[in-house]
Amino acid sequence: MSPTSRPRTVLVTGAAKRLGRSIALALAAGGWQVAVHYRASAQDAMDTVAACADLAGASAHFDADFEDETAVRNLVPRVITHFGSLDAVVNSASLFEHDDVQTFGFAALEKHLRSNTATPVLLAQALHRHVADRVAAGEADARGAVVNLLDQKLWNQNPDFMSYTLSKAALEAAGTMLALALAPRVRVVGVAPGLTLTSHMLSDEKFTQLHALSPLGRSSTPEDVAATVKFALENQSITGTTLLVDGGQHLMKFERDFSLM
Ligand SMILES: NC(=O)c1ccc[n+]([C@@H]2O[C@H](COP(=O)([O-])OP(=O)(O)OC[C@H]3O[C@@H](n4cnc5c(N)ncnc54)[C@H](OP(=O)(O)O)[C@@H]3O)[C@@H](O)[C@H]2O)c1
Repeated sequence: MSPTSRPRTVLVTGAAKRLGRSIALALAAGGWQVAVHYRASAQDAMDTVAACADLAGASAHFDADFEDETAVRNLVPRVITHFGSLDAVVNSASLFEHDDVQTFGFAALEKHLRSNTATPVLLAQALHRHVADRVAAGEADARGAVVNLLDQKLWNQNPDFMSYTLSKAALEAAGTMLALALAPRVRVVGVAPGLTLTSHMLSDEKFTQLHALSPLGRSSTPEDVAATVKFALENQSITGTTLLVDGGQHLMKFERDFSLM
């Protein structure tokens, strides 16, 4: 990211477990120092830090509840205080609570917008300010990158998880606006997985069946998604677009969310 010899540092949100952890490990394996964000999964976050440290050296964990704007605004400064600098943010943390048009209300939408839309925008804003500070301090070639985790369902809509889907649709739109507003110093890229990991609402057997439901006969694996995030962070020409990593699931039409199929 920067031609200096300083190690690159990335903040991965929601990195204690699941996809965020896979992304953190892939980036650590690629030499990135990883700031592991978590909310409630403290022990898992420590395990991720230990695993990243085995691969890359310095890593550390930071808690923040993304429904709390002050906690969100403090996160990037805390990471910078710890590591001295920050090069990238991967917005993987996500609230995923069920509602539909019958149960929809302001409270559910607001919670999802805080965690899934406003937080990634504030973290991108903070990274951009930090990169501008570095330029002002004489690091003329300072650059940054943001990856926002989206969802193939934005291109293949169904009426389930209405607030979640609206929050991710807003994040996809924010990605375009941020890519324009933060260029040339900070790139912004979306990565949209298909069904990658199961949820408490799916049996293992059902998950296996649904994972195969795609033109390629397989949706994404955590490793596929993590490799795409790494590619998006490191390719200096990509901004303002989304990479769909879903075996082509977005080309199909599903009537319900996977969790309810
Ligand atoms: N998994 C899939 O198959 C799939 C498919 C399509 C898209 N995606 C997208 O890929 C990303 C990662 O998916 P995932 O399944 O790994 O996500 P996940 O397990 O649903 O959530 C990841 C983490 O987000 C954190 N989080 C949730 N609400 C938060 C809040 N208010 N403040 C701070 N942290 C919060 C939680 O951290 P704590 O545990 O520490 O509380 C949680 O462990 C998400 O953006 C998701 O939308 C995933």
